[in-house]
Amino acid sequence: MRILVTGGAGFIGSHTLLQVLAQGHEVAVYDNFGNSSRESLRRVREIAGREVLLKEADLLDKAALDEVFEAFQPEAVIHFAGLKAVGESAEIPLAYYSNNVVGTLNLLNVMQERGVRRLVFSSSATVYASDNGLPLVESMRRGATNPYGRTKQQIEEILEDLGASDSSWRIAILRYFNPVGAHESGLIGEDPAGTPNNLLPFVAQVAVGQRPRVRVFGNDYDTVDGTGVRDYIHVVDLAAGHVSALQYLNEHAGVHTWNLGTGRGTSVLEVIDTFARVSGRTIPFEIGARRLGDVATSLADPSKARDDLGWRATRSFEEMCADHWRWQESNPRGYAPEN
Ligand code: WQD
Repeated sequence: MRILVTGGAGFIGSHTLLQVLAQGHEVAVYDNFGNSSRESLRRVREIAGREVLLKEADLLDKAALDEVFEAFQPEAVIHFAGLKAVGESAEIPLAYYSNNVVGTLNLLNVMQERGVRRLVFSSSATVYASDNGLPLVESMRRGATNPYGRTKQQIEEILEDLGASDSSWRIAILRYFNPVGAHESGLIGEDPAGTPNNLLPFVAQVAVGQRPRVRVFGNDYDTVDGTGVRDYIHVVDLAAGHVSALQYLNEHAGVHTWNLGTGRGTSVLEVIDTFARVSGRTIPFEIGARRLGDVATSLADPSKARDDLGWRATRSFEEMCADHWRWQESNPRGYAPEN
């Protein structure tokens, strides 16, 4: 199939490109490089030995979007493009609503006009209300508590309304838990712009000496050691989930939602300890105050994806750290050229 991948140069996008290419599909990437690098696409081409077409443009540019549909004639879309920092979203909510929600509406309108009805959407566990029981199941209540999470929730609701209005749509909503790790080659990986918001890239930058220490956001939660527990999933397992979802849409119309997680939790201190052991580096840390908006524990029940898609995460947390470290150690400044 011809697959258009929005945000395909990003962390999850680049890893998914490799799996989609390996399945023999043709891909075109639509990316404004707002939080990604051309270098990641160069390396995807190198690893895959395949061509990856590129349209550098913004989802808010409907004419550019129309052009790429005219030129590439995609049969499906995997939609990653969007802003995704929880804290930042509270500072610049309008940028999040226009990039994420209006951008997605532009994409859906062009798909509608051109008869493209297969969509895999990158959603997030952040959409779940914080008073749900654990582990989280797809049918549980949504109730995002920050603008970023609300954009994902609103897009999920738009997709559900769209599917209800026109049964020809085939939509997979994938709720990511905490994606970490990197492709085994160490050539592509997570390269957050500026100070990493997320734990693993921050820990990896401390391990490689780019930063002095990790600040642990609170150790008084009701968890195994008082620090936050999360369901970390290897980005390669996550990418495989997208291929499985696409295959499912070949046989099933309608709108379908799946958690992509492991069902296993790891605390902040366990992350630091494991990463230190795997990297052989000491990782200094200090205990700081809780971060606003954090929950104590987030954990997936991944059984629906197992039952529907035959998909499960297979890589251990040690493997996630080992692969993340290989990427970080061989690219201490991410994709930035060594000056
Ligand atoms: C993990 C744990 C922190 C940094 C977010 C988004 C989610 C998705 C993944 C986009 C928590 C603790 C973190 C640090 C710390 N993003 N921590 N020191 O918050 O679970 O999820 O990123 O899709 O939508 O909500 O991930 O990596 O920020 O935090 O102690 O420097 O590490 O308190 O317990 P989170 P995270």
